[in-house]
Amino acid sequence: MNDKILFPLYDKGEQVNTPPQESQAATPSHARRVYIETYGCQMNVSDSELMAGILTQNGHQTVSQLDDADVVLVNTCAIRENAETKVINRLIQLNHRKRRQPDMIIGVCGCMAQHLRDKLLDAAPYVDLVMGPDAYRDLPVALDSLARGVESHVSMTDRDPFVGLRLDKSEDYADIAPIRKEGIRAWLTIQRGCDKMCTFCIVPFVRGRERSLPLKLLVEDVEKLVDQGFKEVVLLGQTVNSYHDNAADFGDLLYAVGDVNGLERVRFTSPHPADATDSMIDAMASSPSVCKHLHLPLQSGSTEVLERMRRTYTAEEYRDLVSKLRERIPDIAITTDVIVGFCGETEEEFMETYKMMADIRYDSAFMFKYSEREGTLAHKAFPDDVPETVKGERLERIIGLQEKISAGINTATVGDTVPVLVEGESRRDADNYHGKTDGFKTAVFPKADSKIGEVVNVRVDTTTAHTLIGQIV
Ligand code: 5AD
Repeated sequence: MNDKILFPLYDKGEQVNTPPQESQAATPSHARRVYIETYGCQMNVSDSELMAGILTQNGHQTVSQLDDADVVLVNTCAIRENAETKVINRLIQLNHRKRRQPDMIIGVCGCMAQHLRDKLLDAAPYVDLVMGPDAYRDLPVALDSLARGVESHVSMTDRDPFVGLRLDKSEDYADIAPIRKEGIRAWLTIQRGCDKMCTFCIVPFVRGRERSLPLKLLVEDVEKLVDQGFKEVVLLGQTVNSYHDNAADFGDLLYAVGDVNGLERVRFTSPHPADATDSMIDAMASSPSVCKHLHLPLQSGSTEVLERMRRTYTAEEYRDLVSKLRERIPDIAITTDVIVGFCGETEEEFMETYKMMADIRYDSAFMFKYSEREGTLAHKAFPDDVPETVKGERLERIIGLQEKISAGINTATVGDTVPVLVEGESRRDADNYHGKTDGFKTAVFPKADSKIGEVVNVRVDTTTAHTLIGQIV
């Protein structure tokens, strides 16, 4: 998996994974071989694992090569326009393939399906299935009914598509066992949907209202993941720290998961600054397996812009939170998301973001140009009036700043010895392993006699803006 896109929860809309491992169970009447292709954030990766679970439970099979499939499901992202463009281009490619393989079923799942709805079928009439994030339970029914259409030789263009776009506040898929790729890191969805209503964001409209899974069940899930050999669990939610189950809050969940025997590390993404409670900070400070890394989306350093974004905190409150975090957890790594060129952003307002990033010195940051999304509150309330060239130029300025800061922070670690959880062979050199530090920095080092899944101490010899390079000591 591409390390660069593990954070933030939503990313650049790139394809992020190979499909879940191949799976098979008992025989259904229309057993299908399904290839799942995932775009976007880790929540989508986790949803694809869920879809694989649902399909397998119902006797279908997931395959790891498109060539072996008779169904392709594209799990999509709607966070920015370029994420949707990428999927449209992919669908055009798949349509070419369908001319050669007319029985192939093409499905579009996830956030973009929910966002574009009927427009998707108008633009891509060869798509057989459109399914939003709360409707995956209907996948087997959909495949069965589509298979009947294929078998009755109804011509491709006359077949009725299957559309599943109901958002359902009660759907948490708690009873479904996802099928995960083997590895050392497992993603665990602890919450679905979002109630925050940031004005720039499409997520509440495509993922529905916020709901949390029961704490007891999540702890049992983590115990099972440890039994399966996973060393690290990443708790996922759109605003993960607003998690609650009756009286239990996110801090309680972190403690409970952190206490699971045999689990090396717990991470989570992405929290909302307004829900960064003392309970969360206490758990991060005190539970040894909870990593001291916080991905804390800033979005803007200007209180006025934050207000237009409806982020519910001021620039001052955000700064105070960072100070408190650094006081309580001195070695904490803090990363962030920033949007430039939001509606009405002036040069002065942009410079407040720049200044904030220079002051806080994030370990790393995901930086984006504002992309207007139809259906959001900003789309209704404010004109998207910062010219594209200005957005581009502002983005370049903060990227330049952040590269220097990240490189500086990494250089300062030269000579330090840091614990690294070994994840796998380096893509560039089979004699090296790569892994992550507690603060989620990538480290690369000669294998020596270490093994994947172990925590080793690596002495840092050199660094780049994104990687620590060293040796096991
Ligand atoms: N335009 C640009 N970036 C966006 N994000 C969310 N919505 C938009 C948008 N409309 C960014 C935010 C969020 C990250 C996952 O994606 O920074 O934290």
